[in-house]
Amino acid sequence: MRLCHQNTQITKLVNDWHAQGKAVAFVPTMGGLHQGHLSLIDIAKQKADKVVVSIFVNPTQFSKNEDLDSYPRTLNADLAVLSANVDGVFIPDVKQIYPNGINKHIDVGTIGQILCGKTRPHFFNGVAQVVEILFGIVHPDVAVFGQKDYQQLLLIKKMVKNLSLDICIESGKTIREKSGLAVSTRNQYLSESETKIAANLYKTLVYIKREILQNKKINGLKQWAEFDLKQHFKLDYLEILDANTLRQITSNTHQIIILSAVLLGSVRLIDNIILKKG
Ligand code: PAJ
Repeated sequence: MRLCHQNTQITKLVNDWHAQGKAVAFVPTMGGLHQGHLSLIDIAKQKADKVVVSIFVNPTQFSKNEDLDSYPRTLNADLAVLSANVDGVFIPDVKQIYPNGINKHIDVGTIGQILCGKTRPHFFNGVAQVVEILFGIVHPDVAVFGQKDYQQLLLIKKMVKNLSLDICIESGKTIREKSGLAVSTRNQYLSESETKIAANLYKTLVYIKREILQNKKINGLKQWAEFDLKQHFKLDYLEILDANTLRQITSNTHQIIILSAVLLGSVRLIDNIILKKG
C-alpha cells in the first residue's frame, strides 16, 4: 500500500497505473473507518484493478457549531485496516486540498437544498467542492459512495454528469448493526442507552416500507411515522419521495425512498430505505 500526503504523489501513482492499463477505483472518506467504508472498498475491488482510499476531514462541510474539531480521527487504526486491503491511501492536509482558501462556491442545485441541505445549508456545497477537487487530483475511473448518504450520492452523480466527468459512480448498500442501526463514524458519540434508542429509526423506516407495500396511504403513514419518531427523537424530517428525483411520488415513480434525519441528544442520525413501487 502506498501512502500519499501530497497531491502530486497520488496523481503520479494513479497516472502510472493508468499507463499500465490498470483501472482505478476511489473511495473518498473522512476516516473513522468502519464496516460501511470497508464494504465500499470491497465493491471498489470488484470494479477496478487498483483501489485508492482518501482520508480527509473536510472543513467545508461542517458549519461553525458542528463537530469538526471533535470528529473522530483514528488514523493509525484506519491505516492498519487499509494496509492489507487497498493499493493507495491519500491523506492530504487542508492546504493540499484548498491551496487558495475555501471560498469557492459550487451550485449544488435543488438536490443540495432540500432535506439535509435545508438544515445544513453549508453541507452539500462543502461535499461537492471537496469531491470535485479529490476527483481532479486522483483521476479515478470509478468512485464508490454509500447509499446511507443517499442525497450525497445523488448530488455527486449529478455533479459528475453536469461537469461531464468520465467517472463511473457506483454505490453500496447501507451496512447496519444487528439492531438495524446504520453503522456510522458518529455512532461513537452515542451512549449505550442512546445506541439502543437509535435503532428505532430503522425500525420505523422498515414499518413504513411494509405498510407502503400493503398499499397504505402515504400521507397517513408519513403523519404516523413523524409522530412515532418524535417519541424517541427530535425530528428533522421524514419524507417519502421518488428515489430518482427526491421529489414527490408521481405516476412515473418506479422506486420510492423513505428518508429521515433525527437528533438524539446532540447526535444527528440519518437513514433511508428504498423500495420498488408495486
Ligand atoms: P464518510 O462519512 O467518511 O463516508 C464515506 C463513505 O462511506 C460515503 O460514501 C458514505 O455514504 C459511506 N458510508 C457511511 N456509512 C455507511 C454505511 N453504514 N454503509 C455503507 N456505506 C456507508 O461521506 C463522507 O465521508 C464525506 O461526505 C465525503 C464523501 C468523504 C466527502 O468529504
